Amino acid sequence: MSKPVCLEDFEVHCSQTLDRNICDNFSSGANQEQTLKDNKEAFKRYRLRPRMLRDVSNVNMKTTIMGNEIDFPIGIAPTAVQKMAHPEGEVATARASSSMNTCMILSTWTSTSIEEVAQANGSGLRWFQLYIFKDKQFNMDLIRRVEQAGYKALVVTVDSQRVGKRLADDRNRFNVPSHLKLANVSTDTLQSVQSSVLTQQQPESGLHKSTQVLTEKKLTWDTITWVKSFTKLPVIVKGVLTGEDAKLAVQHGVDGIIVSNHGGRQLDGVLATIDALGEVVEAVEGRVEVYLDGGVRQGTDVLKALALGAKAVFIGRPVLWGLAYQGQTGVEEVLNIIKEEFKLAMALSGCAQVSDIQRSLLTRETNYYCKL
Ligand code: FNR
Repeated sequence: MSKPVCLEDFEVHCSQTLDRNICDNFSSGANQEQTLKDNKEAFKRYRLRPRMLRDVSNVNMKTTIMGNEIDFPIGIAPTAVQKMAHPEGEVATARASSSMNTCMILSTWTSTSIEEVAQANGSGLRWFQLYIFKDKQFNMDLIRRVEQAGYKALVVTVDSQRVGKRLADDRNRFNVPSHLKLANVSTDTLQSVQSSVLTQQQPESGLHKSTQVLTEKKLTWDTITWVKSFTKLPVIVKGVLTGEDAKLAVQHGVDGIIVSNHGGRQLDGVLATIDALGEVVEAVEGRVEVYLDGGVRQGTDVLKALALGAKAVFIGRPVLWGLAYQGQTGVEEVLNIIKEEFKLAMALSGCAQVSDIQRSLLTRETNYYCKL
């Protein structure tokens, strides 16, 4: 296959080379995958209103998130068990993230330890995504390790008290390959959970069942208060899709919000993240930073999200495809391609720096037709 020139080329490569079960796990969404598709399609319903004859001879993509500078506003979303994509897994991602000077969010379901990822990431910016376990002490230990290993924020995923119904994984009875482990969960715990769930004759994914058994079902805003009381790290909630919840998040003292629908893997039929972004930004009234993930595949998607008020975006699947393609180099290529696309989009729309990206840069497809 020829060298990838856009993010979706990496997906094609992945589908041709990676084990079918793993590839299906990466690419699939919940149920009929309406939200999965809409995350990408919705970006196309916004059109750009570029400005001309502005000096864009130098384009500066630098920005800050939670007070830390990154070279461009595109970070790495948390995804589970990255060693399924490449033997170096999260270590390769951490190195790529650091060399590109962006931010990596490590999943609770990492296949590499928190400390090993921190070491590979060096002075890079890293956040930790937290699932809340039934065992509170386990969470407390996890948070302390994260703090000690230099992670700069906790990202609490709030859309996953249950695992969404992913048909591909159910059909494949998907499970993590036996040579890999969930680095944060002891082998004994995992074995006892898995042996009990895998003996059931249901067409169900073993990994999903295990996560169901281990994680807390009763998540409320009090959970956020509890996490906040236990750490000095900034707390970001991931998975908010409405203005109502965004206001509650601010009231409960969160420091940031990631507008996310888990890449269409949880509740199918929820709105695309780019469509939810506007009401979340409006509701928080600048009190906390707002980010977005879901369906970001090209530089203009990033431009559109920033025009609607996101401070930065995160990408999930493209990083896994990059990893599967060539480990650290593959992730760097993915990041570099979308970074350069974003730079070009900024230049062609008359934005020399990130602060030039304003709401007036966009119109909706419906408005656009009305004007014809
Ligand atoms: C995810 N996502 C995810 N989110 C999270 O909070 N914890 C996790 O462990 C995972 N694991 C995970 C695995 C895989 C294979 C995928 C595809 C996604 C969701 C992820 O952080 C992010 O919200 C989406 O991937 C963003 O959408 P795109 O960029 O993949 O379209």
